[in-house]
Amino acid sequence: MLSNKLQKELNNQMNNEFFAEYEYLSMAAYFHAGNLDGIANYFHVQAQEEHFHAMKIFHFILDKGGKVELQQIAKPDVDFASPVAVFEKALAHEQKVTKSINDLMDEAIKENDHAVNSFLKWYVDEQVEEEASASKALGKMQIIGGKGEGLLMMDQEFAGRSFTAPAE
Ligand code: FEO
Repeated sequence: MLSNKLQKELNNQMNNEFFAEYEYLSMAAYFHAGNLDGIANYFHVQAQEEHFHAMKIFHFILDKGGKVELQQIAKPDVDFASPVAVFEKALAHEQKVTKSINDLMDEAIKENDHAVNSFLKWYVDEQVEEEASASKALGKMQIIGGKGEGLLMMDQEFAGRSFTAPAE
């Protein structure tokens, strides 16, 4: 059985992941509106990953005999100052998620809950990749200054990205 505290925190984390899906969809919309459908595709794939992250927690809570409590999803930002600002926000968001996963892991360790600890290891590893990927994308966007031909090249590069559900 999950402790009440871990059940609550897992439900909160699931909500964080659904919110992240929303945030990335909002970023995708920003780039579609700017005729950069390839970069929009990058954020659609991000959104799909976040949905996967949320649903993985959804099923884990149920597998543990816990209660899934869906919460309201906050409104994401819908206005962005520039393409660079979007990628800065994406990286900051991933850093925040890493912190919340680490806090959750701290609680699992404190409670000596081995199943939750083992489950969360996947997220700890995933966050290393998520941060690295967001950091690289931001770095490229900063190099090109978020405009000109470089932006079109990034658009082409990101058009090819697709979502593959990671192995369970
Ligand atoms: Fe679910 Fe991008 O962290």
